[in-house]
Amino acid sequence: MKELITKYINADLIIWSFPLYYFGMPSKVKAFLDRMLPIYLPYISINNDKTSCHPLRYDLSHQRYILISTCGLYGTKNNYEALLKQFEFIFKDRLTKIICPEGELFSIPQIDGRTSRFLTHVKQAGKEFSTNGVFSEHTKRELNKLLLPPKIFIELVNTSWSITDSSINKNS
Ligand SMILES: Cc1cc2nc3c(=O)[nH]c(=O)nc-3n(C[C@H](O)[C@H](O)[C@H](O)COP(=O)(O)O)c2cc1C
Repeated sequence: MKELITKYINADLIIWSFPLYYFGMPSKVKAFLDRMLPIYLPYISINNDKTSCHPLRYDLSHQRYILISTCGLYGTKNNYEALLKQFEFIFKDRLTKIICPEGELFSIPQIDGRTSRFLTHVKQAGKEFSTNGVFSEHTKRELNKLLLPPKIFIELVNTSWSITDSSINKNS
């Protein structure tokens, strides 16, 4: 961790990239985050709004953070809120996000047109971030569009499963 923390505190940009697991981050990412605790000081101080916190041990005000995450369901509602809240607590207003629901579609070659279009917008977002430090409103709108409308997405991804809600034995 000594080596990783040194790299971390010297970085201008940290990209957190992982799939959504149980409305949060995968355990390995959480383990890494937990081991980053030494970047904070052990004492507790009071914020302007009377809440409390552990101050950072280092001046990381130069740092920006990007979260890139995909997930299996088709939306962010009732899905990403807990993770985003946690990241906002940690990284405040210095966090930029790229969330890509319907992630399973990336493994279906037949809809490559849709997925590569999305990835083109991701590349564009990277360019904009490196020059302006933000994504343009147009790029944000494009990144917020679903790859497929929910109904079509559900039909497509569910065809490969041989069980449905009604075939589950509710008494077992
Ligand atoms: C343990 C586990 C928990 C998951 N939890 C969620 C979830 O809360 N919401 C969601 O939309 N997708 C969830 N998914 C789907 C994954 O985010 C999605 O399939 C992702 O592409 C998996 O990436 P991986 O194959 O690298 O693990 C979960 C997948 C796993 C394996």
